[in-house]
Amino acid sequence: MEYILDTADIEAIRYCNEFYPLAGVTTNPSIIAKEKTNFWELVSEIRSIIGPDKIFFAQTVQKTAEKIVEEAVLLNEKSRGEFCVKIPISEEGIKATMMLKKLGIRVLVTAIFTPAQALLAAKAGADYVAPYVNRLDNIIGDGCNVVAEIVAQFKLHNLSCKVLAASFQTAEQVHKCAAVGCQCITVSADILKAVIAYPMTDAAIEGFDRDWQNVYGDKTILDF
Ligand code: E4P
Repeated sequence: MEYILDTADIEAIRYCNEFYPLAGVTTNPSIIAKEKTNFWELVSEIRSIIGPDKIFFAQTVQKTAEKIVEEAVLLNEKSRGEFCVKIPISEEGIKATMMLKKLGIRVLVTAIFTPAQALLAAKAGADYVAPYVNRLDNIIGDGCNVVAEIVAQFKLHNLSCKVLAASFQTAEQVHKCAAVGCQCITVSADILKAVIAYPMTDAAIEGFDRDWQNVYGDKTILDF
């Protein structure tokens, strides 16, 4: 299971890349627009932080298959390392996925809300599909159950397409999706921090510190 960071905030990427086992960074047009800066400079800065081996995901803003392919080829060239283009599911997007497969460019089909959409994308050659967990939960759907169905369906049909679950609001959603076997989870820095945090962990660490200090004071193992 891979953790991916879902942001274009440079400071958040720098921080999480240092403290968490990230496999890459995902973005989408809303995430990029939030930074209100030059697109290629932002891409270059993200790459310089994560290095060439972690995957950078950028989403096309084109609407026709030919233009999506053109944009994906440019993004792939200019991203200077492991790259995957994100394409929202549509007829043109599926056509572009099949075209990009022939060019050897990785594709993530995004904005997935049903297992049937995911199956079609995988059959078109997508390397990843991204079901939106919290957006499903928000409409009284069951995002984690949709992820589980997609995972089961890919197994049943022997498809190598990975399930990259996206759109998270809670650590509980992350836990439930990991438990049903999705291969990747993309989350904000806040959700990563929420996954680590647990009050009993803090209490346990405080106990260790107190017991040690009662006997050895400020001395550490390095001081013996
Ligand atoms: C990632 O691929 C998606 O674009 C993103 O996770 C959507 O998240 P949101 O529902 O929090 O906007």
